[in-house]
Amino acid sequence: MGQEMSEQPFDLPPEKIPRHVAIIMDGNGRWAQQRGLPRLAGHRAGTDNLRRILEACVEFGIEILTIYAFSTENWNRPPREVRGLMSILERVIDRELESLHAQGVQIRHIGRMEGIEPRLQKKIRKAVEYTKDNDRLILNVAFNYGGRAEILDACRRIMKEGLDPDTLDEETFSRYLYTYPCPDPDLVIRTGGEYRLSNFLLWQAAYSEIYSTPTFWPDFDKEELRKAILEYARRERRFGRVPQKA
Ligand code: FPP
Repeated sequence: MGQEMSEQPFDLPPEKIPRHVAIIMDGNGRWAQQRGLPRLAGHRAGTDNLRRILEACVEFGIEILTIYAFSTENWNRPPREVRGLMSILERVIDRELESLHAQGVQIRHIGRMEGIEPRLQKKIRKAVEYTKDNDRLILNVAFNYGGRAEILDACRRIMKEGLDPDTLDEETFSRYLYTYPCPDPDLVIRTGGEYRLSNFLLWQAAYSEIYSTPTFWPDFDKEELRKAILEYARRERRFGRVPQKA
């Protein structure tokens, strides 16, 4: 998927291109502050950037992009900012669903629906349903998402279904996560300069490569994504094993 559709823009073997990239889009607020703008202007600029990065992902042959758009902790931001982030998602669905669909993007929601306003819930469900057969790029939108909440939700479902504790293994557990059936992210990118996961994909990122850049999200362009992929390609992924002999 993807790869054969686009010209390979890297001098890299296909297995060195991450299949699944997850992004913590941090730094919108600081980007706006530096320009004397309100924080929401930073989130709007971040949304514009998301469009560009989606296109770059398709071009680079990335199959799955997971974005951290609103965390379970983000409810604690000022009410005005929370409302603004909700309306950004609503507007993206209203205005861009058709074009995302035409680009072959499959939209998935990861996170809790409870807590999201019913009207927005309905729009999210519609976007997911409308694009479910697309296969050019899977876009997981983490919205009202928390890694701990996800693990708890998985445990609750497993207990309700009465699974045998002695036979529960990692493979089975991962089927209860919001991201199922997506493979784990190969690369987690964090913009805005911090070195932490902030409750993002706690289970799934166990062996992901982490790339942190000081660039604020609205300025993280295609060239920056290319740099992150080249850095990823240089890393040796050992998954707990010893280095491979040359
Ligand atoms: C972190 O920057 C960013 C967010 C909490 C929101 C990210 C949302 C978008 C880019 C909009 C796209 C979203 C949707 C719904 C499609 P920050 O505000 O923490 O920045 P700071 O650390 O500089 O304050």
